Amino acid sequence: MRAVTWHGRRDVRVDTVPDPAIEQPTDAIVRITASGICGSDLHLYEVLGPFMNEGDILGHEPMGVVEEVGSEVRSVTPGDRVVMPFQISCGTCFMCERGLYTQCETTQVRDQGMGAALFGYTNLYGAVPGGQAELLRVPQAQNTTIKVPEGPPDERFVYLSDVLPTAWQAVEYASIPDGGTVVVLGLGPIGDMCCRIALHHGHRVIGVDLVPERLERVRARGAEVFDLEEHEGEVGEAIRGMTEGRGPDSVIDAVGMEAHGATLGKLAHQIAGMLPDAVAKRVMERSGVDRLSGFNLAVDVVRRGGTISLIGVYGGMADPLPMLTIFDKQIQLRMGQANVKRWADDIMPLLADGDPLGVERFATHKLPLERAPEGYEVFQKKQDGAIKVLLQP
Ligand SMILES: NC(=O)c1ccc[n+]([C@@H]2O[C@H](COP(=O)([O-])OP(=O)(O)OC[C@H]3O[C@@H](n4cnc5c(N)ncnc54)[C@H](O)[C@@H]3O)[C@@H](O)[C@H]2O)c1
Ligand SMILES: [Zn+2]
Ligand SMILES: [Zn+2]
Repeated sequence: MRAVTWHGRRDVRVDTVPDPAIEQPTDAIVRITASGICGSDLHLYEVLGPFMNEGDILGHEPMGVVEEVGSEVRSVTPGDRVVMPFQISCGTCFMCERGLYTQCETTQVRDQGMGAALFGYTNLYGAVPGGQAELLRVPQAQNTTIKVPEGPPDERFVYLSDVLPTAWQAVEYASIPDGGTVVVLGLGPIGDMCCRIALHHGHRVIGVDLVPERLERVRARGAEVFDLEEHEGEVGEAIRGMTEGRGPDSVIDAVGMEAHGATLGKLAHQIAGMLPDAVAKRVMERSGVDRLSGFNLAVDVVRRGGTISLIGVYGGMADPLPMLTIFDKQIQLRMGQANVKRWADDIMPLLADGDPLGVERFATHKLPLERAPEGYEVFQKKQDGAIKVLLQP
């Protein structure tokens, strides 16, 4: 089959690789029809290289049609149309019973000290082949699938794999009070969808970024927007000025570890990128490598007693945090990978008629799988208006 594979920093290719096969009775094989490129894939493209192996198959936002199931899989059968959550989870362990699918005790990557295995996401998360490919082996298929109806196009459902539940969880964790205001930092696909969901819930939303077309997209949906580039050096004051001088009730950080404007972290990333993998891994695991400007801005602007919901991914083990301010302002902090299936039933009605979140026109680029390298490049460089790229094998 053809698959998108990792070959080094900013080097993804489309290779011919062996077809996957059923290995466990709980596996399924799915023929992929659509697969997103995510901001999290950009971390692999750039920063997390030391945790990748040449030839690893990328992708964790796939959907398709079940082709074959193992003997213990009963919840889906060949021919079913399914979306795969980005995390692999059993559905029956202590964590899954509590809706904490990203902590599944059946698939936790214990030798790395990490949570549930993820598709296409580094040795830290089990080095499981990903879904930017023609075929995908789905472990724990009894729970790692979401059945969706026939009829509407793939764009209606594909974001159930990641963007929709991630943004939904970010908004839930932000605990925005009735009549409250949320500031969303970063308007990539995740922040954009956070704005749409918070607006749908009736909240006041202020979206912050520095890319004009990203600002424009959320403005067109009814959010107020704040262009970082227009307010250099006075961002905190300016946002407080929009919220009665006090700051918003809630802030969602949808930026993550590759924030713009954090020189030290950027340097650490570049140094880690030049070291041999073994050394770079230790640097990444033991030190503060994140570019924290998104998080620090969240701490600065959130009102006293407010909530920060971190959904952008961070990866350093010793990041310097402004604990004095976090403690003194009595900030509530929630974070984590999205527990996809925890939110699927809440989201599904919004994917029915009317498309209130605008998912069908969410992708800016739909490319054949063969053009994945171009998809990665335009998304990373924010060229050609790229906000969300879907690959179609
Ligand atoms: N927790 C989860 O389960 C989960 C799931 C998916 C994605 N993510 C993470 O969410 C983050 C966003 O993903 P995405 O797909 O939207 O990616 P993206 O890279 O397209 O979006 C990031 C946006 O942040 C903006 N930005 C950069 N620096 C900023 C700053 N200092 N202040 C405000 N905005 C700034 C960029 O211009 C960009 O538009 C990534 O870190 C990704 O790994 C987390
Ligand atoms: Zn993702
Ligand atoms: Zn489990």
